[in-house]
Amino acid sequence: MEKHVTTETTERPSEFQQEFRLREEPDLWRIIGSSKEIKDVLENIQIVLESDIPVIIQGETGTGKELVARAVHYRGIRSKNPFYAINCAAIPENLIESELFGYEKGSFTGATQQYIGKFEKANGGTLFLDEVNGMSLTTQSKILRVIEEQCFERVGGNKSIKTDVRIVSASNQDLLEEIQENRFREDLYYRIAVFKIEIPPLRKRQDDIPELVHCFVKRYNTLSGKRINNVDPSTMEKLVQYHWPGNIRQLQNAIRRAILVAVTNHDVLLPEHFDFPDVKESNLKMVESLEFGLSKLEVSLKRGEVIPLSEVEEVFIRQALSITQGNISEAAEKLGVSRSTIYRKMEDYGIKADDSK
Ligand SMILES: Nc1ncnc2c1ncn2[C@@H]1O[C@H](COP(=O)(O)OP(=O)(O)OP(=O)(O)O)[C@@H](O)[C@H]1O
Ligand SMILES: [Mg+2]
Repeated sequence: MEKHVTTETTERPSEFQQEFRLREEPDLWRIIGSSKEIKDVLENIQIVLESDIPVIIQGETGTGKELVARAVHYRGIRSKNPFYAINCAAIPENLIESELFGYEKGSFTGATQQYIGKFEKANGGTLFLDEVNGMSLTTQSKILRVIEEQCFERVGGNKSIKTDVRIVSASNQDLLEEIQENRFREDLYYRIAVFKIEIPPLRKRQDDIPELVHCFVKRYNTLSGKRINNVDPSTMEKLVQYHWPGNIRQLQNAIRRAILVAVTNHDVLLPEHFDFPDVKESNLKMVESLEFGLSKLEVSLKRGEVIPLSEVEEVFIRQALSITQGNISEAAEKLGVSRSTIYRKMEDYGIKADDSK
């Protein structure tokens, strides 16, 4: 399952490219589907367009949270002003404050020039707090303060800067549950979750699958220069029945891959052009948390940072437990360590065997 890290600072196109794409490739930003569920989502988007009301978008991975966040901004009253996204889960804790608030030259070693943070850049526009559930409690307090006071200081600065941003957030966890577990501040929740848009998983809106398939076939056909213009009925049946744990992103990638592997003289997509990995729904949460861990490591690597071995170890222990469905002895054997070692490390990292079941 492909996972893209949604930080402006890493792989996100520049603001100019984003606007260019928006104008030149409107198809890429279209929210496809006509099921009752997606119509409800579109209606909800419509409701919040004319206001500044903070919106939270909840849905599993790949359901289109970012697409909806962009629609809220680009179809709304702030569309002429900037849209900035920050992936709260992928940015290392020690960098998130700088990313959000910026810093003054000389405020710490390496701060050779002033840096403008997202709250300042997005002024007048929208700040998209992606994976907001991944934020530490400390960062949550800082964001709460900015939202309440509508001003902030750059790191190392003492000037108070006024900010006028609309907050749109996304979460792939139920934040009310996170509050119960003391992982999310209730007061921040009520500030950011004034209007909730819930995107149902693809398996709960199978009616949308044929339309999505046709749109993606057309899109990737054009891009790959192939002439596939049909999907065999038995293929479509399989595509509709599959449970798509990675939702629309997975479907999109499956079509892209199928077009790639289909031989040139075929004009129809057949079941053998697809593989339907058997990821169980119960494993999804774990797969997501694993992907989350991996994407954090990826960001640190790209930034040229040295990653503490403990962080690497934690991700791979979680992966081993996921593969063995929480069987500690088997995980220990596969990792080449003793049972007591893995027990100790699980305790150190707060991993529960149940997480993987
Ligand atoms: N209704 C839709 N119509 C067309 N394309 C869609 C739709 N929903 C999602 N997509 C496409 O699927 C991909 C994943 O969507 P997006 O990145 O918005 O999901 P997400 O919920 O933010 O996922 P994650 O939780 O993993 O960050 C994108 O390429 C997006 O354009
Ligand atoms: Mg996203």
